[in-house]
Amino acid sequence: MAGNRTFTMIKPDAFGAGNTGAILKIIEGAGFKIKAAKALRLTQEKAGKFYEVHKERPFYNDLCSYMSSGSILAAVLEKENAVADFRKLIGATNPVEAEEGTIRKLFAKSIEANAIHGSDSDENAEIESRFFFSKLEEV
Ligand code: CMP
Repeated sequence: MAGNRTFTMIKPDAFGAGNTGAILKIIEGAGFKIKAAKALRLTQEKAGKFYEVHKERPFYNDLCSYMSSGSILAAVLEKENAVADFRKLIGATNPVEAEEGTIRKLFAKSIEANAIHGSDSDENAEIESRFFFSKLEEV
């Protein structure tokens, strides 16, 4: 995927509030192409596996409960410089610190229920995409 793909999830707060369409419009408007997408509900165990890197953090259990509390949209996005450009588009993890116009500033409810996820590196974009999509070469 070398630099031109990233992985995203529209999280239960934003999906449940009916903001998926508005968020995808912003994403496409910023030049990202949707290469794969599916709506699903994570189990607590699967959320725990996805966020395993945060296992030692005090917010880990709450995060896994929250991420399995409702449906999400998982998607692979393509654009030049995808990871960095997407992180900019979604804004800071804590919506209080997110810049005006970013997806989290517009839609996030809290640092945990922060509307959307974006991979933080090319390597994690690949790992996270494969967590949800096994046949990426076909998209
Ligand atoms: P995300 O970018 O998906 O990566 C890890 C997630 O953990 C993050 O978004 C938030 O949903 C959550 N998170 C990060 N920091 C905190 C925190 N201090 N308190 C609660 N949840 C957090």
